[in-house]
Amino acid sequence: MQVVGPILEIRALRQKLSGTVGFVPTMGFLHEGHLALVKQARMENSAVIVSIYVNLAQFGPREDFRAYPRDLNRDLALLRGEDVDIVFVPSDDEMYPPEFSSWVDVEKVTERLEGASRPGHFRGVATVVAKLFNIVQPSRAYFGQKDAQQVMVIKRVVADLNMGIEIVVVPTVRERDGLAMSSRNIYLGPGERQAATVLFKALTLARQLGRDGEKDAEKIRRQMASLIQTEPLAQIDYVSIADSETLEELSLLDRPALACLAVRIGKTRLIDNLPLE
Ligand code: PAJ
Repeated sequence: MQVVGPILEIRALRQKLSGTVGFVPTMGFLHEGHLALVKQARMENSAVIVSIYVNLAQFGPREDFRAYPRDLNRDLALLRGEDVDIVFVPSDDEMYPPEFSSWVDVEKVTERLEGASRPGHFRGVATVVAKLFNIVQPSRAYFGQKDAQQVMVIKRVVADLNMGIEIVVVPTVRERDGLAMSSRNIYLGPGERQAATVLFKALTLARQLGRDGEKDAEKIRRQMASLIQTEPLAQIDYVSIADSETLEELSLLDRPALACLAVRIGKTRLIDNLPLE
């Protein structure tokens, strides 16, 4: 496994690869969720490239960029175990030099949910992913369903800018009690960790109500919110039952829908989602 920083070097290594290249962009502090993406990329491609880069541009001014957990040596050990070919660890100086001034701004799908709660977040995500795609030139790139809106944004970028990269979506990997794996789970104290199970409970409630034939999306949102409010450490940012394609809020469950939520547990903001059949 080669670990590479300079963009010129990864470009040279990429040129030498033949066959398909699977790419997994990450911000590091890897867990089983990230590794599920890597494993699938490994199965489906001749070569696998993983990037580790905590992208300042996608964090708001009051968000956790500085506190975001980092452990490169541990990450590299985990990636060695997955038979990764190249790990790209770019520097801030090369990714965002002082004269940097071009941004990828995706409209519409970014207006709601995470886009509404975190202004500028998806501009940072779309820009860094477009840059990484240009540098790595993968055949396929792997993203987690955990960040469902991010997947939609990336698919838009690839289609709108004619990048010709296949976007593969991998199901959310969860802890035994349902909590979606996330690098941010490390912020949770023991009481908070227990409280955080309320996210998955609310999502499974939504799925069950849908299965039981409830068609009124607002009723489902209200029941999810009531359940979350029984947890004193939880503070709702949003609860959504949205069209899976557009993320527009539904009033009637008459098409494929996604239950999504963002909840603060103490100071830690967690997101999760579950498709409703
Ligand atoms: P990061 O949060 O490190 O996540 C990297 C990838 O792992 C994303 O595609 C994310 O959806 C996926 N992932 C995270 N937790 C997961 C889980 N429990 N199950 C399945 N997949 C999971 O997402 C980012 O980084 C950044 O925004 C990035 C795309 C790298 C751009 O900076």
